[in-house]
Amino acid sequence: MQALILAGGKGTRLRPLTLHTPKPIVPIANRPFIYYQLDLLKPLNSEGAMDVILSLSYQPRKIEEALNPDALGGMRFVPIVEAQPLGTAGAIKNAQSFVNGTLIVFNGDVLTDIDLRPVLARHRQRKAAATLVLVDVEDTRAYGVVELNEEGRIQRFLEKPAPGTTKAKSINAGIYLLEPEVLDLIPTGVEFSFEYELFPRLLESKMPLYGDITQAYWLDIGTPERYRQANRDVLNGTVRRFPPGSGAQVTEHGSLIDPSTTIKGKVEVIRSVIGSNCLLEEGAQVVDSVVLSGTRVAEGARVDSSIVGRGSHIGANADVKNAVLGDKSGITDFSTMM
Ligand code: GTP
Repeated sequence: MQALILAGGKGTRLRPLTLHTPKPIVPIANRPFIYYQLDLLKPLNSEGAMDVILSLSYQPRKIEEALNPDALGGMRFVPIVEAQPLGTAGAIKNAQSFVNGTLIVFNGDVLTDIDLRPVLARHRQRKAAATLVLVDVEDTRAYGVVELNEEGRIQRFLEKPAPGTTKAKSINAGIYLLEPEVLDLIPTGVEFSFEYELFPRLLESKMPLYGDITQAYWLDIGTPERYRQANRDVLNGTVRRFPPGSGAQVTEHGSLIDPSTTIKGKVEVIRSVIGSNCLLEEGAQVVDSVVLSGTRVAEGARVDSSIVGRGSHIGANADVKNAVLGDKSGITDFSTMM
């Protein structure tokens, strides 16, 4: 069995954070995001050393450098770098020569605490060619919706359906179990989309194609709003099983402050994450925010409901609210951003 993490996207919706840090390694609670996905694979590793294929395209070296092979618990990284982006299904095809059994594919931007063992067991019991993990949502308009029959077999895919088009509430959660024959449906060397091109081909092929609805926590971290929510949910334990990064403890105000950060005087940090080597000065206030490493929040500055990129400077008495600031941002003293 192998796993493949689709980690080659540009992450445009999460700009400016993804300008210099590819989405799979943006930190969530001070831990590169991809580690949360590797945690999901570890319970499946009992069948022997699992290969984790990393399908890379955008800033691949940064992802490779951020990975610590010691953290893999016996799994093995196989990085594959695309000369040009091949799309979600094209990237899987590109890895075909490494695949010799059931392949678990993750979109590199879903945070979940799903236990994949029963999903795999059902996939095998049903002799499925492909199983798509699905999650139910109230408002399906922004998603790819999947219609199932009573046995859980997929009947139809509807991309971003208009209201009233379908009663189905299950959307594609970006986690797939695929048997090798599915990869034969993907053309070689061209950009090909899982959602728009492979799904219809799979339906036409009449291969046994199942949906598996999960009740687990699930969030696509791909926008600034949801990125902040992902940090919050890890801190407050909404995402089960995952310890926050860097060995730091969550404070009584529901925050995580990297131990390498310096605090001068009295500061207030509430429901927030502070990355490594930051400096928080007397009277600084950080509320409902994520402050990435190497950032200084100067005397009396307030950061509220914001994301502050690495190596930034929030000047004294500045008031920053609802902002998403890229790396190396500079906010001068007494500035107001609302
Ligand atoms: P946006 O630009 O904000 O939509 O983000 P994205 O680039 O991540 O695209 P999207 O969310 O549609 O991609 C879903 C998953 O597929 C993400 O984990 C991407 O990293 C990955 N992905 C998207 N396109 C490619 C590609 O061409 N090659 C590879 N290897 N992965 C891709």
